[in-house]
Amino acid sequence: MTGLHTCGWKLALPVIAAPMFLVSGPKLVSACVRAGVIGTFPALNQRTTEGYVEWVREIRAANADLPPDSAIFGVNLIVHPSNTRLEADVRATVQEQVPLVITSLGAVPMIVEAIHSYGGKVFHDVTNRRHAEKAIAAGVDGLILVAAGAGGHAGTANPFALIAEIRRIFDGPIILSGAMSNGAQVAAAIAAGADFAYMGTRFIATEESNAVAGYREMITQSSISDIVYTPAVSGIPANFLGPSLRSIGLDPKNLPEVDPKTHKIDMGAEAKAWRDVWSAGHGVADTKDILPVSDLVARMKREFDEARRRLAKV
Ligand SMILES: Cc1cc2nc3c(=O)[nH]c(=O)nc-3n(C[C@H](O)[C@H](O)[C@H](O)COP(=O)(O)O)c2cc1C
Repeated sequence: MTGLHTCGWKLALPVIAAPMFLVSGPKLVSACVRAGVIGTFPALNQRTTEGYVEWVREIRAANADLPPDSAIFGVNLIVHPSNTRLEADVRATVQEQVPLVITSLGAVPMIVEAIHSYGGKVFHDVTNRRHAEKAIAAGVDGLILVAAGAGGHAGTANPFALIAEIRRIFDGPIILSGAMSNGAQVAAAIAAGADFAYMGTRFIATEESNAVAGYREMITQSSISDIVYTPAVSGIPANFLGPSLRSIGLDPKNLPEVDPKTHKIDMGAEAKAWRDVWSAGHGVADTKDILPVSDLVARMKREFDEARRRLAKV
């Protein structure tokens, strides 16, 4: 196993609060940064590039008292022809020198070079080895391995196997994504060869997330069997809360068939789908309370330290 890749960041815990469409905004990101983990948001959570820049400045101002190597925040850019804002958002990202950029769908050398020009890092979302190879060839700094059970567009691979497969071809930061919601699981990810844990669902159920009360509560009341993995909502397989599928008239046990192989990605249809249906992953299993981010991170730190002590006894 390789050494730990920290990217030179000083964090309380090796955790990235994952970018979530409609859920993550400057309040959540700043709360994460202040608690000692990395906060991120999708640029498209703001309607315009100007709005996106406003959020970046708001996050910077709220954390101006922190040392630069601990005030790490990131933005998610969707690299796909249907994202008509991409060019303007990349330009704004370079101008604002956002420390971390998370690219989804396409891994493009030109974007990686633009972010590297000011010392920023690029992490790219992958679900399998083929996509990892393409991202490595594009020069990204880190790979986010989206395993089975993740909220949003989850993969289907087992996380242990996925880390092992990608570690064989990549000696850089690996960020594990999927179904982690406590500090012991963060320790397990690191022990298995990842450098950071990427957590979405757990951060929806925080006081600072933009999720409506009913959404947060549904997460705390759900179990793994309530999570439905389906392409029926937007054409791309993703994990959704079963009761929320019912609320738009879909029967989780009898979903319409969609072939993701022939489906054309349409950002408009995607955005509409995510407004109507609530997504969460298998991490609902241990997401049972709605907390301020500072309390959540403090508890995860205790769980992380307890897991380290447990391992040391083996
Ligand atoms: C409601 C929701 C919205 C999401 N939106 C995005 C997004 O806009 N861009 C993205 O790269 N990933 C998105 N994701 C995926 C997360 O970034 C992350 O991979 C996932 O939540 C991790 O799994 P977990 O929820 O089991 O912790 C979303 C996930 C959820 C639950």
